[in-house]
Amino acid sequence: MVTDNLEIQVKPVAESRINQVDFDNLPFGRVFSDHMLVMDYKDGEWQAPEIVPFEPIKLHPASSVIHYGQSIFEGMKAYRMENGDVAVFRAYDNAKRFKESAMRLCMPEIPEEVFVKLVNELVKTDKQWIPSSADSALYIRPYLFATDEFIGIKPSDTYKFMIFTCPVGQYYPEPLRVKIEEYYTRAVQGGVGRAKTAGNYAASLYPARLAQKEGYHQLIWTDAIEHKYIEESGTMNIVFVIDNKIISPSEEADTILRGITKRSVLDLANDWGYEVEERRVSVEEIITAIKEGRLQEAFGAGTAATIAHIDVIHHQGTDYKLPEIEGREFSKRVYNELNAIKSGKSEDKFNWIVRI
Ligand code: PLP
Ligand code: COI
Repeated sequence: MVTDNLEIQVKPVAESRINQVDFDNLPFGRVFSDHMLVMDYKDGEWQAPEIVPFEPIKLHPASSVIHYGQSIFEGMKAYRMENGDVAVFRAYDNAKRFKESAMRLCMPEIPEEVFVKLVNELVKTDKQWIPSSADSALYIRPYLFATDEFIGIKPSDTYKFMIFTCPVGQYYPEPLRVKIEEYYTRAVQGGVGRAKTAGNYAASLYPARLAQKEGYHQLIWTDAIEHKYIEESGTMNIVFVIDNKIISPSEEADTILRGITKRSVLDLANDWGYEVEERRVSVEEIITAIKEGRLQEAFGAGTAATIAHIDVIHHQGTDYKLPEIEGREFSKRVYNELNAIKSGKSEDKFNWIVRI
């Protein structure tokens, strides 16, 4: 099996496109680096990985991913450190989550070491594409999809694993207005909510569009059974600061994506001596805390979103304005510390940085 003795063939581009890119004005997810990595799975084995020029791929019209949605992905970031090294943030955690998503979707797993090595090799190949301005990074998108040319419901026998990278700026350039969703559902216990699979995002588009038409950036999903408990948002996990405690919905239920950014936030909070509570968080608790002036901060945490301040929460016809962003000590401290660790200014005491 190729993964036992990993050799990656590199076919470099004839000419880089990097000079066409305005690194001072990077949109999110629209600029693609020169190369991509491709590794096929067939005959029960991973085939040799290749790094090739970034270009469109050909798919058979009956490719099973298109019809039945066997597709998973990850989102990670690489940064340029102060000393010129390249840092990939918590790559092993993404590798582990990718494996878990693959298992849930009946897809072949990629050993964590191999996943990280493939990511690192692609980032190394295009390392000149890593932006260095504030709030920018090289976004890394590993993904796996089913390629059987077959009509019928069964796990595919063939797959394509790919990775491409994008130099990106901010995903949410402004504080967020979010609406608590009490009718539609993102995930239900026993479903695929914990997996990072394409269908979760497809299913959320319609309710999110309804909220966007009403002037909200995103939804806050609630549990599917009672719509009483807060789960997460469309692209990020949710963290609250109430009475100086750091509170976030527990990931025990398999309905919430186990976010790596949120885990980092809570690890820092614990380390700094905050009281941290991961538990069920009811909508009522949050609305009461806002009304009583006890909710100090609310923010989303995610790889793309980074730390995204929430400015307004909508619930049952009322827009609740949250405390001014300027006074938000905890989320600002977290944001600064995460940046300091990624750039090498702060000690990486949790071993989050994979240097390549
Ligand atoms: N929840 C959802 C639905 C997401 O898409 C993301 C983004 O990856 C997150 C949470 C945050 O996860 P992470 O911090 O690992 O990026
Ligand atoms: C990420 O934060 O990496 C995500 O996957 C969110 C989004 C861009 C889908």
